[in-house]
Amino acid sequence: MIKLTFIEPSGTSRQIDAALGTSIMQAATAAGVQGIAAECGGACMCATCHCLVVEAPAAGLPEMTETERDVLEFTSEEMQETSRLTCQIAVAEDLAGTVFKVVGR
Ligand code: FES
Repeated sequence: MIKLTFIEPSGTSRQIDAALGTSIMQAATAAGVQGIAAECGGACMCATCHCLVVEAPAAGLPEMTETERDVLEFTSEEMQETSRLTCQIAVAEDLAGTVFKVVGR
């Protein structure tokens, strides 16, 4: 388990426990983080798990795949430099302390 922080659309900051091996999206939805609809279930198709990385881990996040980038480029919420689809990032020890801002409503 690692700790992750999410800033919900309301501005509420929530720290959650995330199990290793799940995705960031799965950890967030399991913890009831608001604003992550995850409509495609993690298939990298809907972009409703879109978050901005507010504080990245020292080692950085895993590289974005071309598919993730393509989906982000066609979302209704404009892609930003720190945009990520949280279903495409696996929870790993070196992500402890990462802070995400939820883009959804
Ligand atoms: S849950 Fe649909 S793209 Fe992440």
